[in-house]
Amino acid sequence: MIVAIDGPAGSGKSSTARVLASRLGLMYLDTGAMYRAVALLFIRNKIDPESDDIEQFLAKHSIRIAFRDRSMGVFIDAEDVTSLIRTARVTELSSRVSMLPIVRTKLVAEQRRMAKEQVAVGSGVVMEGRDIGTVVFPDADIKFFLEATPRERARRRVLQIRSNNGEADFDQVLAEINERDARDVSRSASPLAKADDAMVVDTTRLSFDEQVALLEHLIRERE
Ligand code: DC
Repeated sequence: MIVAIDGPAGSGKSSTARVLASRLGLMYLDTGAMYRAVALLFIRNKIDPESDDIEQFLAKHSIRIAFRDRSMGVFIDAEDVTSLIRTARVTELSSRVSMLPIVRTKLVAEQRRMAKEQVAVGSGVVMEGRDIGTVVFPDADIKFFLEATPRERARRRVLQIRSNNGEADFDQVLAEINERDARDVSRSASPLAKADDAMVVDTTRLSFDEQVALLEHLIRERE
């Protein structure tokens, strides 16, 4: 089974997808983590996203999601970079590298390969991102598009930063969310978009538990 979950940053996709995957016994695939890993790779190697030789550079590296101590992690070649991809710098650059068709082609091929591997062993995936239902798996068994107002998404992000003892200014976080949304929606290569056959779930007024329970119910109804 392939479950596709798309939506903007902060709509609750990642946490929902992770819990759903574990309840349904499927592999959780956070495709945003792969775009973040590419951004980290660019930062470390001082690669300019506008330069011409990106294709050759990318061909020398692999970006994968794999198991590490009972949870999923993202790897650049053999290195586990999971704990290094949530910085503000990586977040900002990941939104820019995800505009590059060459980056998308490489990561989408890998995402399809990983999901097919799971399906071949009788399992499946909950795959989460921006283009899963539209581009990566247009034939997914079930598709969701999660939404929440920008203010609510900013509120959640501020709480998350503060719970990690970080400092966050609501207006600045809101501005960043609006900026990222604009880029995700307006890029020409696979923009954030709702598939025609996706179910829209507005999570603005749902608690996390309600959100997970609703999606689980809708999936089990289809089984
Ligand atoms: O979900 P996230 O914030 O970790 O994603 C990081 C960036 O990658 C974000 O700017 C959108 C982009 N992305 C994408 O273009 N396509 C995906 N399938 C997943 C993420």
